[in-house]
Amino acid sequence: MSRSSNIALPLLFTLLTFIDVSTSSSNVFNVVSFGAKPDGVTDSTAAFLKAWQSACVSAGSATVMVPAGTFLVKGITFTGPCKSKLKFQVAGTVVAPADYKAFGNSGYWILFNRVSKMSLVGGTFDARASGFWACRKSGQNCPPGVRSITFNAATDVIISGVKSINSQISHMTLKGCTNVAVRNVKLVAPGNSPNTDGFGVQSSTGITFTGSTVQSGDDCVSIGPGTRNVLISKLKCGPGHGVSIGSLAKTLNEDGVENVTLSSSVFTGTQNGVRIKSWARPSNGFVKNVFFQDLIMKNVQNPIIIDQNYCPSKEDCPTEQSGVAISQVTYKNIQGTSATQQAMNLVCSKTNPCTGITLQDIKLTYNKGTPATSYCFNAQGTNLGVIQPTSCLKR
Ligand SMILES: *[C@@H]1O[C@H](CO)[C@@H](O)[C@H](O)[C@H]1NC(C)=O
Repeated sequence: MSRSSNIALPLLFTLLTFIDVSTSSSNVFNVVSFGAKPDGVTDSTAAFLKAWQSACVSAGSATVMVPAGTFLVKGITFTGPCKSKLKFQVAGTVVAPADYKAFGNSGYWILFNRVSKMSLVGGTFDARASGFWACRKSGQNCPPGVRSITFNAATDVIISGVKSINSQISHMTLKGCTNVAVRNVKLVAPGNSPNTDGFGVQSSTGITFTGSTVQSGDDCVSIGPGTRNVLISKLKCGPGHGVSIGSLAKTLNEDGVENVTLSSSVFTGTQNGVRIKSWARPSNGFVKNVFFQDLIMKNVQNPIIIDQNYCPSKEDCPTEQSGVAISQVTYKNIQGTSATQQAMNLVCSKTNPCTGITLQDIKLTYNKGTPATSYCFNAQGTNLGVIQPTSCLKR
């Protein structure tokens, strides 16, 4: 073989590869082409990052493709914004390291940071947290845990058909996000897994959740300070702790929660249905314009609850009152069964009464031979239609 052909051959290959990529009609960046292995044991973290980085600088809209198979990915941050629209399409399963110590104190498994105009579509994300839960339950000194999928400071995002299982703590969190649509997402962990929230949202605006299922060990959805314009519909919640606005009043200076609607949803065997919860502490936070409507409760311990006296272990707040002002909260067409006699529990702050509460067409029953009851403290508002149990609101 001559010397020149030795050089020409690799050159030809390089050229062909280049032509192939540049002429492909859609810019698909398959993680396997970047070295990821669908065997569930090879660390594919670097390959995922390379695929992302290549897609992210693509001039036209790009797709990061995770094909069928199981891919081991450690803590990873996908940083945006990218040059063009980006679709992250997952057909297979992404698994976390089984050893929870691999995460240290990072707080995140899969983090999308400052992305814009992106969609996350399909796939299963398995954080394999059973070892972590066992550590927590045994009262050992455990790391703080990682959220499975997080979007921080994201805008214009669609999350669709994604499944998250066995998270260490929250399955999916949105923080500082604008305009995010979450559709047909399924979040699953055992009902007794500690602090495995489903969705967590805070400091975000314009967030819609449609058709999701959450079966986990803590809140199905938790809505934190600074959250506005949230619409949740067709949620199936349970097991879990229900939908919670709060905990609020963690800090003195705190942004409020405004314009939250939850509709057409079903709660099954949950600790709470719809809950608003604030620490019994001074705060300038608030909750206003909240609509809970067309909800079915099946054997729920606290179907309707406001708890402004939250002070676990009576630490730091044994004699304080919540500064959070709750107003304009509507409960409409909420039906089903309560697992405890007290189906409605509206305990507002001693210093900041709840105002503008509306109860309309409520039918909650307790099936242990005695009728359901309601309890109010400092709760003012209006009753419309038939209210069962009898309303305790003050006019
Ligand atoms: C309330 O939130 C919904 C859902 O995001 C939005 O469509 C609506 O415009 C908001 N209303 C106000 C008054 O901002």
